[in-house]
Amino acid sequence: MCGIVGYAGSRQAAPVLLDGLEKLEYRGYDSAGVCVYNEAGLNMVKAKGRLSVLRDRLEGGTALPGNVGIGHTRWATHGAPSDVNSHPHMSWTGKIAVVHNGIIENEARLRAKMYRKGATFQSETDTEVVANMVGYYYEKFGDFVQAVRETVMRLEGSFALGIQCIDHPDTIIAVKKDSPLIFGFGEGEHFIASDVPAILKYTQTVAYLEDGDMAVFDANSVTFYDSTGEEVAKKRETITWEMSAAERGGYDHFMIKEIYEQPKALKDTISPRLRDGKIDLDGVELPADYLNGLRKIYLVACGSAYYVSVLAKYIIEKTCRIPTEAVMASEFRYSDPVVDERNLVIFVSQSGETADTLAALREAKRRGAQTLAIVNVVGSAIAKAADQVIYTWAGPEIAVATTKAFTTQLAVVYMLAMQMAKTLGTMSDEEYDALVKGLEQLPYDVESVLDQKHLERCQKLASRYHAHHDAFYIGRNIDSGICLEGSLKLKEIAYLHSEAYPAGELKHGPISLIEDGTLVVALATIQDLFDKTMANIKEVKARGADVLCVTLEALEENASAISDSTIAIPAIHPMLQPSLSIIPLQLFSYYVALYRGCDVDKPRNLAKSVTVE
Ligand code: G6P
Repeated sequence: MCGIVGYAGSRQAAPVLLDGLEKLEYRGYDSAGVCVYNEAGLNMVKAKGRLSVLRDRLEGGTALPGNVGIGHTRWATHGAPSDVNSHPHMSWTGKIAVVHNGIIENEARLRAKMYRKGATFQSETDTEVVANMVGYYYEKFGDFVQAVRETVMRLEGSFALGIQCIDHPDTIIAVKKDSPLIFGFGEGEHFIASDVPAILKYTQTVAYLEDGDMAVFDANSVTFYDSTGEEVAKKRETITWEMSAAERGGYDHFMIKEIYEQPKALKDTISPRLRDGKIDLDGVELPADYLNGLRKIYLVACGSAYYVSVLAKYIIEKTCRIPTEAVMASEFRYSDPVVDERNLVIFVSQSGETADTLAALREAKRRGAQTLAIVNVVGSAIAKAADQVIYTWAGPEIAVATTKAFTTQLAVVYMLAMQMAKTLGTMSDEEYDALVKGLEQLPYDVESVLDQKHLERCQKLASRYHAHHDAFYIGRNIDSGICLEGSLKLKEIAYLHSEAYPAGELKHGPISLIEDGTLVVALATIQDLFDKTMANIKEVKARGADVLCVTLEALEENASAISDSTIAIPAIHPMLQPSLSIIPLQLFSYYVALYRGCDVDKPRNLAKSVTVE
């Protein structure tokens, strides 16, 4: 939520900042702004709307000369999107400019204090409070670094800050707590950014700032301090991603590119963990006596990662016979959960920085539980805070609606369940071997559902259904978990009202909403439950529903006899089947969104990385 960048070097700063912000737009895109220093002072240009509005205002950056600057792309928390609420914010003294990602929880108290000190405010943002505080302490102490320190020690909440001072035109100060910030090293130039893709075009050498860290830098030098104010050396790391990973390539949207990257992402996630027919999950240790002593496993997450957790409940309970519960992170953290050292709590997160998930993780640790994180972003807050971590190797995911992170998270869940079941002795060797084979084959199976035939089918069905107003996704057991994710995809990117229900639950309420032409997407990929789901389809058909059924190739004939349309996928190992079922639902939502003229990669009101609760 919100992205920040900073640049000091010999290039023109504004185009570099705009480039970086473009790569960070997934974090928020209701307004954007930059501040660049030149002989006219600290010059801020800000614009409500997409980054393209700012880009036009800056004539691609050429309208704002200067070599040192900071930039911001916003997802509004305090104050509506507007030019004035956009970042950067300037102190009332006119000397300090600030960009901020995060949320200052004690801003009301600090704002009141700054009023008493004579500050004035232009915006409703918490960030302007920070700018005014640094401005105030700068007047008081006459020292830029000290002014930032004095400010930061009084802030509660989360922040990654980029700060300029008119009297130190070459310098930027960056500081962070609970919001991500990376530092980029170039030749005679330095960068800061909320995420790697923002600077990948210019450098692959970075350092990850820890909570409390401060970087004071110009084009040629940087000094890092830790939270105690001690000077520290930061480890330089080389990013191995290809530049193309953060580009759209020949695709119209990141979402469709990422849908097509799923076979590779799955291969990258699964292959390194399979050795000689055995799963080795990065040395994750869950010994038999520990697992046997568990009274319950929790999976805690938000959004699609929560739906992976719902699927994980079915999978872990079936394979390990340990009671398992999926809980939304925003609920878990305030629910006084029954959690102690007899619980394993697994956190699932693409970004590794979702505020509720991070807070829930801290709560679980506080209560003595062992924690395990399934995360995509290396070195992210959740990855660092958990006792153990398993990475999904999906590569950077840019589209707001997740696709490849979802399927790779699911792949990790399969492997984790298998490893635990093997340790516990709850899975036969034959079943284990069959699943290992299934996992090896999974990337190719997913590839087969991404062929031209399925693509055209999904496109055709999207053209048929895109004008509907409501959709209901129904399915049983793990199919119902996939319904949740399929339905979310549709509402997120196509703005079509959609709900997901376990098929058997439909008649306890939602069926009253079915009328002539209501779209019902039914998932029927479980052989044993096929007849039950067909019975549910008949119930909604009897009330006028227009039914699209996603089923197995071998069952398609039976399904099409009672459904209006079908999509058939190959049958694989039943436990792995959800990885295939989700693919046509992703494609269907994508094409529905296109037919409805929606901004697929940047759906309204959403942000990819939700760093506020
Ligand atoms: C946002 C994204 C979703 C994502 C959720 C959780 O809502 O749009 O795609 O599933 O956050 O994010 P995380 O990074 O924790 O997986």
